[in-house]
Amino acid sequence: MEQLIFDAHAHYDDEKFDTDRDEIISSLPEKGVFAVINNGVDYATSLRSIAFAEKYPFFHAAVGIHPESVPDMDMMRSDQYIEQIAALLEHKKVVAIGETGLDYYWDIPKPEQHILFDKQLRLAADTCMPIIIHDREAHADTLEFLKKYRPKALLHCYSGSCEMLKEVFRYGDIYISLGGTVTFKNARVPVEVAREVPLDRLLLETDAPYLSPVPNRGKRNDSSHIIYTARRIAEIRGMSVEDVLKHTKENACRLYF
Ligand code: NI
Repeated sequence: MEQLIFDAHAHYDDEKFDTDRDEIISSLPEKGVFAVINNGVDYATSLRSIAFAEKYPFFHAAVGIHPESVPDMDMMRSDQYIEQIAALLEHKKVVAIGETGLDYYWDIPKPEQHILFDKQLRLAADTCMPIIIHDREAHADTLEFLKKYRPKALLHCYSGSCEMLKEVFRYGDIYISLGGTVTFKNARVPVEVAREVPLDRLLLETDAPYLSPVPNRGKRNDSSHIIYTARRIAEIRGMSVEDVLKHTKENACRLYF
Protein backbone atom coordinates (compact mmCIF):
# COMPACT_ATOMS: atom_id res chain seq x y z
CA MET A 1 0.00 0.00 0.00
CA GLU A 2 1.30 3.43 -0.91
CA GLN A 3 2.22 5.35 2.23
CA LEU A 4 0.54 8.73 1.93
CA ILE A 5 -0.62 9.40 5.50
CA PHE A 6 1.46 11.96 7.41
CA ASP A 7 0.22 12.37 10.98
CA ALA A 8 1.44 15.85 11.90
CA HIS A 9 0.57 15.62 15.61
CA ALA A 10 0.11 12.64 17.94
CA HIS A 11 0.73 11.42 21.49
CA TYR A 12 1.59 7.72 21.44
CA ASP A 13 3.10 8.05 24.93
CA ASP A 14 -0.47 8.37 26.29
CA GLU A 15 -1.49 5.63 28.73
CA LYS A 16 -4.34 4.61 26.39
CA PHE A 17 -1.65 2.85 24.33
CA ASP A 18 -0.07 1.07 27.30
CA THR A 19 -1.58 -2.34 26.56
CA ASP A 20 -0.72 -2.63 22.85
CA ARG A 21 1.51 0.32 21.89
CA ASP A 22 4.16 -1.60 19.96
CA GLU A 23 1.57 -3.68 18.11
CA ILE A 24 -0.40 -0.59 17.00
CA ILE A 25 2.64 1.45 16.01
CA SER A 26 4.23 -1.44 14.12
CA SER A 27 1.04 -1.96 12.10
CA LEU A 28 0.83 1.66 10.87
CA PRO A 29 3.11 1.49 7.80
CA GLU A 30 1.11 -1.38 6.30
CA LYS A 31 -2.02 0.76 6.81
CA GLY A 32 -0.57 3.52 4.65
CA VAL A 33 1.16 5.65 7.30
CA PHE A 34 4.29 7.39 6.00
CA ALA A 35 5.31 9.42 9.08
CA VAL A 36 4.18 10.40 12.58
CA ILE A 37 5.29 13.38 14.68
CA ASN A 38 4.99 12.45 18.35
CA ASN A 39 4.67 15.51 20.59
CA GLY A 40 6.01 16.03 24.08
CA VAL A 41 3.97 18.01 26.60
CA ASP A 42 6.74 18.25 29.22
CA TYR A 43 10.33 17.08 29.62
CA ALA A 44 9.47 13.43 30.38
CA THR A 45 7.13 13.01 27.40
CA SER A 46 9.60 14.86 25.17
CA LEU A 47 12.16 12.19 26.07
CA ARG A 48 9.59 9.53 25.24
CA SER A 49 8.97 11.13 21.84
CA ILE A 50 12.67 10.81 21.16
CA ALA A 51 12.69 7.19 22.33
CA PHE A 52 9.88 6.37 19.85
CA ALA A 53 11.76 8.15 17.08
CA GLU A 54 14.82 6.03 17.84
CA LYS A 55 12.80 2.82 17.83
CA TYR A 56 10.55 3.39 14.79
CA PRO A 57 12.12 4.79 11.59
CA PHE A 58 8.91 6.57 10.51
CA PHE A 59 8.51 8.38 13.85
CA HIS A 60 9.95 11.84 14.48
CA ALA A 61 9.90 13.84 17.69
CA ALA A 62 8.66 17.24 18.77
CA VAL A 63 9.89 18.40 22.17
CA GLY A 64 8.30 21.09 24.28
CA ILE A 65 6.16 22.13 27.21
CA HIS A 66 2.37 22.35 26.92
CA PRO A 67 0.52 25.14 28.76
CA GLU A 68 -1.15 22.48 30.92
CA SER A 69 2.34 21.51 32.13
CA VAL A 70 3.40 25.01 33.25
CA PRO A 71 6.44 24.49 35.52
CA ASP A 72 6.41 26.16 38.92
CA MET A 73 7.57 29.77 39.01
CA ASP A 74 10.92 29.05 40.67
CA MET A 75 11.84 26.65 37.91
CA MET A 76 10.61 29.11 35.27
CA ARG A 77 12.86 31.84 36.69
CA SER A 78 15.86 29.53 36.63
CA ASP A 79 15.43 28.77 32.90
CA GLN A 80 16.43 25.20 33.66
CA TYR A 81 13.41 23.70 31.87
CA ILE A 82 13.98 25.66 28.67
CA GLU A 83 17.66 24.65 28.66
CA GLN A 84 16.57 21.03 29.01
CA ILE A 85 14.32 21.36 25.97
CA ALA A 86 17.01 23.25 24.03
CA ALA A 87 19.48 20.41 24.65
CA LEU A 88 17.05 17.90 23.12
CA LEU A 89 16.97 19.86 19.85
CA GLU A 90 20.43 18.51 19.09
CA HIS A 91 18.98 15.04 18.49
CA LYS A 92 18.79 14.30 14.76
CA LYS A 93 15.20 12.99 14.90
CA VAL A 94 13.84 16.03 16.71
CA VAL A 95 12.10 18.05 14.00
CA ALA A 96 10.08 20.64 15.97
CA ILE A 97 9.41 22.37 19.26
CA GLY A 98 6.02 21.41 20.69
CA GLU A 99 3.56 21.17 21.71
CA THR A 100 3.32 24.55 23.33
CA GLY A 101 0.85 27.43 23.13
CA LEU A 102 -1.98 28.91 25.14
CA ASP A 103 -4.96 27.29 26.84
CA TYR A 104 -7.63 29.56 28.31
CA TYR A 105 -10.19 26.77 28.63
CA TRP A 106 -8.52 25.36 31.72
CA ASP A 107 -7.83 27.57 34.70
CA ILE A 108 -4.06 27.97 34.23
CA PRO A 109 -2.48 31.32 35.21
CA LYS A 110 -1.99 33.42 32.07
CA PRO A 111 1.27 35.20 33.04
CA GLU A 112 3.02 31.84 33.44
CA GLN A 113 1.57 30.57 30.16
CA HIS A 114 2.80 33.69 28.36
CA ILE A 115 6.33 33.37 29.73
CA LEU A 116 6.47 29.70 28.77
CA PHE A 117 5.13 30.26 25.24
CA ASP A 118 7.35 33.28 24.70
CA LYS A 119 10.50 31.40 25.68
CA GLN A 120 9.70 28.51 23.37
CA LEU A 121 8.95 30.88 20.48
CA ARG A 122 12.30 32.57 21.10
CA LEU A 123 14.02 29.18 21.16
CA ALA A 124 12.36 28.31 17.85
CA ALA A 125 13.55 31.60 16.35
CA ASP A 126 17.10 31.13 17.66
CA THR A 127 17.36 27.58 16.34
CA CYS A 128 15.26 28.00 13.14
CA MET A 129 13.00 25.13 14.25
CA PRO A 130 9.30 24.90 13.46
CA ILE A 131 6.97 25.17 16.46
CA ILE A 132 3.69 23.33 17.09
CA ILE A 133 1.07 25.59 18.65
CA HIS A 134 -1.94 24.66 20.76
CA ASP A 135 -4.50 27.48 20.86
CA ARG A 136 -7.58 26.72 22.92
CA GLU A 137 -9.90 29.70 23.35
CA ALA A 138 -6.88 32.00 23.18
CA HIS A 139 -7.04 33.21 19.57
CA ALA A 140 -6.37 36.93 20.13
CA ASP A 141 -3.29 36.38 22.29
CA THR A 142 -2.01 33.63 19.98
CA LEU A 143 -2.17 36.14 17.10
CA GLU A 144 -0.20 38.66 19.18
CA PHE A 145 2.57 36.12 19.74
CA LEU A 146 2.61 35.23 16.04
CA LYS A 147 2.96 38.93 15.18
CA LYS A 148 5.87 39.25 17.58
CA TYR A 149 7.88 36.24 16.37
CA ARG A 150 6.61 35.44 12.84
CA PRO A 151 7.52 31.79 13.32
CA LYS A 152 7.53 28.75 11.09
CA ALA A 153 4.61 27.14 12.86
CA LEU A 154 1.82 24.62 12.83
CA LEU A 155 -1.49 25.70 14.37
CA HIS A 156 -2.50 22.22 15.41
CA CYS A 157 -6.17 21.19 15.55
CA TYR A 158 -6.98 24.64 14.26
CA SER A 159 -10.09 25.93 16.04
CA GLY A 160 -10.13 29.57 14.97
CA SER A 161 -12.52 31.22 12.52
CA CYS A 162 -12.15 31.70 8.78
CA GLU A 163 -11.52 35.43 9.46
CA MET A 164 -8.58 34.55 11.69
CA LEU A 165 -7.39 32.10 9.04
CA LYS A 166 -7.01 34.99 6.56
CA GLU A 167 -4.91 36.85 9.10
CA VAL A 168 -2.52 34.16 10.38
CA PHE A 169 -0.60 33.71 7.15
CA ARG A 170 0.60 37.31 7.39
CA TYR A 171 2.39 36.58 10.65
CA GLY A 172 4.89 33.92 9.74
CA ASP A 173 5.37 30.74 7.74
CA ILE A 174 2.14 29.27 9.07
CA TYR A 175 0.58 25.85 8.48
CA ILE A 176 -2.82 24.61 9.65
CA SER A 177 -3.65 21.08 10.67
CA LEU A 178 -7.07 19.53 10.89
CA GLY A 179 -8.10 16.39 12.70
CA GLY A 180 -11.16 14.29 13.41
CA THR A 181 -13.39 17.21 14.39
CA VAL A 182 -13.93 18.03 10.71
CA THR A 183 -15.90 14.75 10.39
CA PHE A 184 -18.20 15.43 13.34
CA LYS A 185 -21.86 15.84 12.55
CA ASN A 186 -22.15 19.28 14.18
CA ALA A 187 -18.88 20.58 12.68
CA ARG A 188 -19.51 23.94 11.02
CA VAL A 189 -16.42 26.11 11.43
CA PRO A 190 -13.95 23.22 10.84
CA VAL A 191 -15.79 22.43 7.59
CA GLU A 192 -15.53 26.07 6.46
CA VAL A 193 -11.87 26.09 7.41
CA ALA A 194 -11.27 22.83 5.50
CA ARG A 195 -12.76 24.50 2.43
CA GLU A 196 -10.92 27.83 2.76
CA VAL A 197 -7.40 26.90 3.88
CA PRO A 198 -4.92 27.19 0.98
CA LEU A 199 -4.02 23.70 -0.25
CA ASP A 200 -0.30 24.28 0.25
CA ARG A 201 -0.86 25.14 3.94
CA LEU A 202 -2.98 22.19 5.05
CA LEU A 203 -1.78 19.23 7.14
CA LEU A 204 -3.64 16.29 8.69
CA GLU A 205 -3.30 15.05 12.24
CA THR A 206 -4.86 12.73 14.78
CA ASP A 207 -3.95 14.25 18.16
CA ALA A 208 -4.11 10.52 19.00
CA PRO A 209 -5.39 9.05 21.26
CA TYR A 210 -7.98 11.86 21.19
CA LEU A 211 -10.48 13.22 18.63
CA SER A 212 -11.03 10.10 16.57
CA PRO A 213 -12.92 10.84 13.35
CA VAL A 214 -16.36 9.43 12.48
CA PRO A 215 -17.04 6.43 12.26
CA ASN A 216 -14.69 5.86 15.22
CA ARG A 217 -15.70 8.94 17.19
CA GLY A 218 -15.28 8.42 20.94
CA LYS A 219 -12.90 5.49 20.45
CA ARG A 220 -9.14 5.59 20.74
CA ASN A 221 -7.59 7.33 17.75
CA ASP A 222 -4.52 6.23 15.81
CA SER A 223 -2.79 7.49 12.67
CA SER A 224 -4.52 5.02 10.33
CA HIS A 225 -7.84 6.78 11.06
CA ILE A 226 -6.58 9.85 9.17
CA ILE A 227 -8.08 8.27 6.06
CA TYR A 228 -11.56 9.22 7.35
CA THR A 229 -10.52 12.82 7.93
CA ALA A 230 -8.94 12.91 4.45
CA ARG A 231 -12.13 11.51 2.87
CA ARG A 232 -14.26 14.19 4.51
CA ILE A 233 -11.90 16.97 3.42
CA ALA A 234 -11.83 15.55 -0.12
CA GLU A 235 -15.62 15.69 -0.16
CA ILE A 236 -15.68 19.27 1.19
CA ARG A 237 -13.11 20.50 -1.33
CA GLY A 238 -14.28 18.45 -4.28
CA MET A 239 -10.94 16.68 -4.66
CA SER A 240 -9.84 13.07 -4.67
CA VAL A 241 -8.75 11.50 -1.37
CA GLU A 242 -5.45 10.66 -2.95
CA ASP A 243 -4.82 14.31 -3.81
CA VAL A 244 -5.67 15.41 -0.27
CA LEU A 245 -3.21 12.86 1.14
CA LYS A 246 -0.48 13.73 -1.38
CA HIS A 247 -0.69 17.48 -0.81
CA THR A 248 -0.87 17.24 2.99
CA LYS A 249 2.08 14.84 3.04
CA GLU A 250 4.10 17.18 0.84
CA ASN A 251 3.23 20.14 3.09
CA ALA A 252 4.20 18.23 6.25
CA CYS A 253 7.54 17.26 4.69
CA ARG A 254 8.15 20.93 3.86
CA LEU A 255 7.32 21.99 7.42
CA TYR A 256 9.25 19.33 9.33
CA PHE A 257 12.07 17.97 7.16
NI1 NI B 1 -1.77 17.44 21.30
